[in-house]
Amino acid sequence: MILNKILITGANGQLGNEVRRQAANFPDFEYVFTDIQELDLSNPEAVDAFIRQTRPKYVINCAAYTAVDVAESDDELARLLNTKVPAWIGKIGRTYDCRIVHISTDYVFDGTGCVPYTEDDMTSPESVYGKTKLNGEIALLKENPTAVVIRTAWLYSIFGNNFVKTMLRLGRERDSLKVVYDQVGTPTCAADLARAILHIISRSAAGQTAWTPGIFHYTNEGVCSWYDFAKAIHEFGGISCRISPVATSEYPTPAKRPSYSVLSKEKIKTVYGMEIPYWRDSLQKCIEELSIK
Ligand SMILES: NC(=O)c1ccc[n+]([C@@H]2O[C@H](COP(=O)([O-])OP(=O)(O)OC[C@H]3O[C@@H](n4cnc5c(N)ncnc54)[C@H](OP(=O)(O)O)[C@@H]3O)[C@@H](O)[C@H]2O)c1
Repeated sequence: MILNKILITGANGQLGNEVRRQAANFPDFEYVFTDIQELDLSNPEAVDAFIRQTRPKYVINCAAYTAVDVAESDDELARLLNTKVPAWIGKIGRTYDCRIVHISTDYVFDGTGCVPYTEDDMTSPESVYGKTKLNGEIALLKENPTAVVIRTAWLYSIFGNNFVKTMLRLGRERDSLKVVYDQVGTPTCAADLARAILHIISRSAAGQTAWTPGIFHYTNEGVCSWYDFAKAIHEFGGISCRISPVATSEYPTPAKRPSYSVLSKEKIKTVYGMEIPYWRDSLQKCIEELSIK
């Protein structure tokens, strides 16, 4: 039996690595994992040649420029990876009839809302990262209207560097920490997002759900501030470090973050029939795994 191929780009990042781990639970596909060494996405001719040769049925684009603060002074590279690359992948994918799953961000919103953002809400990114990611969504869907774009937020995993690992490390090194309490969103375990992406692809490949293109929101369930998130990380990590809440104004960063970026997940749950874990449950599992590693 010839298996449908899935090409994963940016496979050495947090999400890419989690897709690699989840692949074992979705055995009906052949997986091709690439990062910059195998496939440099900034070279569209190389991307075209790679896709022409490997002929994947699906492409999961996990690659991105994710250094949110550095992007403020490095907008050229951010634009290349977050805007131009998705457009190229979309165009090449259309040529070779691939279905694309691309990942975007809650930073496309300015955070002035107070109820969960839906996919139809007005975008207004305030950072270079957010602007380049929004332009990437637009450019991809223009080149390839059959693509699925999933906006996520506050991603963490056992792989790479992220807030969970930073809080665990600082909590062990210090007696006290200050964490902002006036930015509210939802942490997302990259393993859950990886499973959701493969769920979409496998249900559509099996004819259980129609491939439905467009923008979708996916985070874990629930809502918290970075302060609440840090407290939970220390609770599950068994760390007794004093955490004080501070206002964003006391902790200035080069890139402006949305103060409210809770995403509504009704669309993805309805269209693709999925259950989404509560953020604290997924966080606990991730920290247990980190302590075993
Ligand atoms: N992290 C978050 O909190 C967060 C929140 C919302 C949305 N997202 C989105 O979720 C997606 C996955 O994020 P992540 O945290 O998994 O990102 P990540 O850990 O930074 O992984 C991105 C991967 O892409 C690779 N890459 C960079 N340039 C490349 C190129 N020219 N060709 C091929 N690969 C290249 C990176 O390699 P190097 O490491 O060598 O550069 C890295 O392995 C991204 O689209 C991101 O924008 C992330």
